[in-house]
Amino acid sequence: MKIIVTGGAGFIGGNFVHYMTNKYPDYKIICLDALTYAGNMETLEPVINKPSFKFIKGDIADRELIYKLFEEEKPDVIVNFAAESHVDRSITNPDIFLRTNIIGTSVLLDACRKYGIKRYHQVSTDEVYGDLPLDRTDLFFTEETPIHTSSPYSASKASADLLVQAYYRTFKVPVTISRCSNNYGPYHFPEKLIPLMIANALNDKELPVYGKGENVRDWLYVEDHCIAIDLIIHKGRVGEVYNIGGHNERTNLEVVKTILKELGKSESLIKYVTDRPGHDMRYAIDPTKIHNELGWEPKTLFDEGIKKTIKWYLENKKWWENIISGEYQNYYEKMYANR
Ligand code: NAD
Ligand code: DAU
Repeated sequence: MKIIVTGGAGFIGGNFVHYMTNKYPDYKIICLDALTYAGNMETLEPVINKPSFKFIKGDIADRELIYKLFEEEKPDVIVNFAAESHVDRSITNPDIFLRTNIIGTSVLLDACRKYGIKRYHQVSTDEVYGDLPLDRTDLFFTEETPIHTSSPYSASKASADLLVQAYYRTFKVPVTISRCSNNYGPYHFPEKLIPLMIANALNDKELPVYGKGENVRDWLYVEDHCIAIDLIIHKGRVGEVYNIGGHNERTNLEVVKTILKELGKSESLIKYVTDRPGHDMRYAIDPTKIHNELGWEPKTLFDEGIKKTIKWYLENKKWWENIISGEYQNYYEKMYANR
C-alpha cells in the first residue's frame, strides 16, 4: 500500500505520519508538504530516515507537480491534511485559504480522476457546521447537520467538502470525508489555543483569552483522530462523511485554568482581549456513526490528554522554542538543501 499524506509536516498530518509508519512498517508513506510557516521538518525527525518514508516539498495547488507525483508514485490512497488551518489568519488574509483549501483540493481530485485511486480521504472539520448555542447542551453536530460556515477558513473547508462530494457523484472518485473537532497533543503549532497558553505560561507571559473565554470546544487527543482516519481509509464506506469527536467539551477559560494549575502558575497571567470577529460559540460532535460503523471511540479523555500534552511540551522545549524564535524555518535549508 502506498499512501500520500499531504500536509504531513503540520500538526495532525505529522502525528498521522508517525502513527502510520509505526503501525504499518510495510506501507510506503509519502509526505507532500509545501512547508508554509505551519510546516516543520523537525516534526518529521523521528521518521525521516525510515526506508518506508519519503518527503517531497511541494504545493497541492501546483497541478504540474501533482500530476507528475501521481505518474511517478502511482499512490493507492491520498489523505489530504494540507490546508491553511488558522481561523484568525483567515480573517486577516482570506486569499491563501481559498487557494490552498479549495483550489488545492480540486487539483488533488483531478489527479485522482485522471490517474485513478483506491481512496481519496479529505480531512475536514466540524467548523463546516457553524456553531451551536451555549444554552442548548442537548444539541450536537451530526453528519446531517446543514453546512453553515462562519469564517473564511470554515467557508473554504466547506467548499472543499462540496467539491469532494461532487467528484464522487459526478466522476465516481472513491472518496471519504471526516469532520473532526479541535485536536490537541504533541507538535501542535504554538499559535493555537492550547500550545500558545502552555508556551506563554512557561515564559510567564500573559495568556490572551478572547472575549469572556466562555466559548466551548470539543477537544480530541490527536492520536484518536489518527486512529479514526486509519479506520476510515481501510473500512469506511466510499462516499460517506464521518464525524469525529469525543464529548470532551470545555470552555476556553476552563482549558486555560487547567493549564495554569498543571504548571503551578497564577491565574493573574490571564488577560481578557478583544473577541475574534464572528467567533463560533460552541462545537460539539455526535460520533455515533463512526462508533456504530467502525467501532471507533476516543481512548484518551481530556483530563489525561492535557497532562500528556503538557509533559510533551516540557520535554520538547527545543521544538517549540525554535518555532517561536523562527529558527525552525532555517531547518529545511540546513538539513536538506544538498540532500
Ligand atoms: P497545520 O496548520 O498544523 O498544518 C498544515 C500543513 O499543511 C502544514 O505542514 C503546511 O506546511 C501544509 N500546507 C499548507 N498549505 C499547503 C499547500 N498549498 N500544499 C502543501 N502543503 C501545504 O494544520 P493542522 O492543525 O495539522 O490541520 C490539518 C488538517 O486538519 C487541516 O485540513 C485542518 O483543516 C484539519 N483539521 C484540523 C483540526 C485542528 O484542531 N487542528 C481539527 C479538525 C480538522
Ligand atoms: O474545530 C476544529 C478547528 O479547531 C479546526 O478546523 C481548526 O483548524 C483549528 O485551528 C481549530 O480552530 P479554533 O478556532 O477552534 O482553534 P484555536 O486554537 O484558534 O482557538 C480555540 C479557541 O480558543 C477559540 O474559541 C478561540 C480561542 N482563543 C484562541 C487563541 C489562539 C483564545 O481565546 N485566545 C487565543 O489566543
